[in-house]
Amino acid sequence: MELNLERFENPEELPQDAQDLLLAAVEAREAAYAPYSNFHVGAALLLANGKIIKGNNQENAAYPSGLCAERTAVYYAGANYPNEEIVMMAISAKAKAKETAVPIPPCGACRQALAEYEVKQARPIAVYFRGGSGPILKSSSVENLLPLLFTQKFL
Ligand code: THU
Repeated sequence: MELNLERFENPEELPQDAQDLLLAAVEAREAAYAPYSNFHVGAALLLANGKIIKGNNQENAAYPSGLCAERTAVYYAGANYPNEEIVMMAISAKAKAKETAVPIPPCGACRQALAEYEVKQARPIAVYFRGGSGPILKSSSVENLLPLLFTQKFL
């Protein structure tokens, strides 16, 4: 099992649809509600019907009640477009007070949540992730980011 990531030095190197999606992720990031961590994350999903779904982290005074950007986006898509396949996801994350120039990958819980939809649709979801600036990494699927994933087949 091997992790395969493609690296792009700047957004202009991305295919147009991924470039547009990354811009949507940045827009989402700018609207994040993260007054406790001051770490702003935006995620955007491209659905097969061409629609872009945005999500961002939503924090809470009761800290564990908050939710990551990626799950906010994917659960919105699952709730509102249950039959629409997810083609790709873009993520941008940045600390409020400093530059974040390294790619920020989705956390383990978000990888598991995303994997559910990848398995459900039996089609890989490409994941592009970036900091606020700097290089972009692409994983061609969620499973690539979460080897040995736990799925319904074990139940
Ligand atoms: N966060 C995300 O939104 N996505 C991730 O994959 C990692 C972490 C959020 C959760 C919390 O609001 C803040 O970033 C700091 O952990």
